[in-house]
Amino acid sequence: MDKKIVILGYMGSGKSAVGQKLSELTKLKLVDLDRYIEGKEGMVISEIFQQKGEIWFRKKEREYLEFLLAQKDAFILSLGGGTPCFGNTMEYLQKSDVITIYLKASVITLTQRLSKEKSHRPLLASLTNVDLEEFIRKHLFERNFYYMQAQKVISVDDRSVEDIASEILQKAIG
Ligand code: S3P
Repeated sequence: MDKKIVILGYMGSGKSAVGQKLSELTKLKLVDLDRYIEGKEGMVISEIFQQKGEIWFRKKEREYLEFLLAQKDAFILSLGGGTPCFGNTMEYLQKSDVITIYLKASVITLTQRLSKEKSHRPLLASLTNVDLEEFIRKHLFERNFYYMQAQKVISVDDRSVEDIASEILQKAIG
């Protein structure tokens, strides 16, 4: 496998877990963009949002994305949920050595997963008196425009990480 595999999707769609499994199966290195940014900046994402603001974060996110994709070797990269949705990032990702994979989860699945872990997600933690399902429905509707530009779209509802990873390997890469 000689391509960089870029995994994208909404928060809670399983990008990190699927990336991990793909990395095990392919022996390619996994880079999780959020963790990479945290390491470089010496702050967790929620601190970056609080101290520097979202616009600063988006700028850095794009810079680190470009830096990582400038590497020659193949690897697996799981993006943050918002990475594809700012500037021309989806266009930028249409590169010959990159394959983009959208992990598509339903609003119901995402709501179930995210309701348990709102606190460390900066975009959700501040939502008070807002119906989470309604928020996700609208937000996902806006973001789907970007996500659907991925080369491969993989449904993830009610499926195991192993199952999703093997579909990616068979259909998208194999
Ligand atoms: C974000 C998703 C997060 C992280 C940041 C913003 C978003 O990544 O990059 O909190 O805009 O959806 P995960 O999708 O890995 O949670």
